[in-house]
Amino acid sequence: MKDLKGIILAGGLGTRLAPLTKITNKHLLPIYDKPMIYYPISYLVDAGIHDISIVTGGNHAGDFLRLLGNGQAFGLSHINYTYQEGEGGIAQALSLTQYFSQGSRMIVILGDNILEKGIAPYVANFHRQEKGARVLLKEVSDPGRFGVATLEGNKITEIEEKPKNPKSNLAVTGIYMYDESVFEIIKTLKPSGRGELEITDVNNAYIRRGELEYDVLDGWWTDSGTFDSLLQANHLVAKKALLEKKKERKNGVLG
Ligand code: G1P
Repeated sequence: MKDLKGIILAGGLGTRLAPLTKITNKHLLPIYDKPMIYYPISYLVDAGIHDISIVTGGNHAGDFLRLLGNGQAFGLSHINYTYQEGEGGIAQALSLTQYFSQGSRMIVILGDNILEKGIAPYVANFHRQEKGARVLLKEVSDPGRFGVATLEGNKITEIEEKPKNPKSNLAVTGIYMYDESVFEIIKTLKPSGRGELEITDVNNAYIRRGELEYDVLDGWWTDSGTFDSLLQANHLVAKKALLEKKKERKNGVLG
């Protein structure tokens, strides 16, 4: 996957987690035994993507550099960093990486998305896809918290951002795959009601071009930007680690 770039969006003020985020960035908070930002990095690396940029901002950007350095903990020899001034939304943060992307296609992950099984098979599907974009969907019990996809046959016909009356239970997860035309699309966007350039508007633009594909994620998925989802992410990751340890012990005993 040498021709794909990885982008992790780890900016924002994390106001939904105040006061936890008063003196640090949300993505440096712990999920079980590691800082949150470790997880999206490992999903990219495990999918074969080694050219990674982290977009962050605020007062704690330097802490990412101190924590991650050049990515040795992940077997990387270099990590790129991009600084986001203020809070302009996910699409605005992504627009800052145009220089880094240099015409390549990219896998974008929101830094607070945590999943059971990684993203390798979906990245491989995107790699085979000729052009356009790809999103990953997941059935959830509370779709109104997310971007929600409407399907007709095997096509997404519409994505609504945090709808009051969701038309399906399929959340658009914070894992997006784009070709280089994403930057042209972002330039055409207008700020939403919450004053941000919305990633959902980017994805709807790809739908209008007939160029948005999708996969439904296998295994559990959660964001971790609210107290409840942060707690859930910790529980899920801890449970998974415990199961893996048990399996290792069993294999050790039997093997
Ligand atoms: C963002 C996106 C939303 C997506 C979600 C996934 O929401 O706007 O479409 O479903 O991430 O984590 P936010 O967390 O910014 O409210």
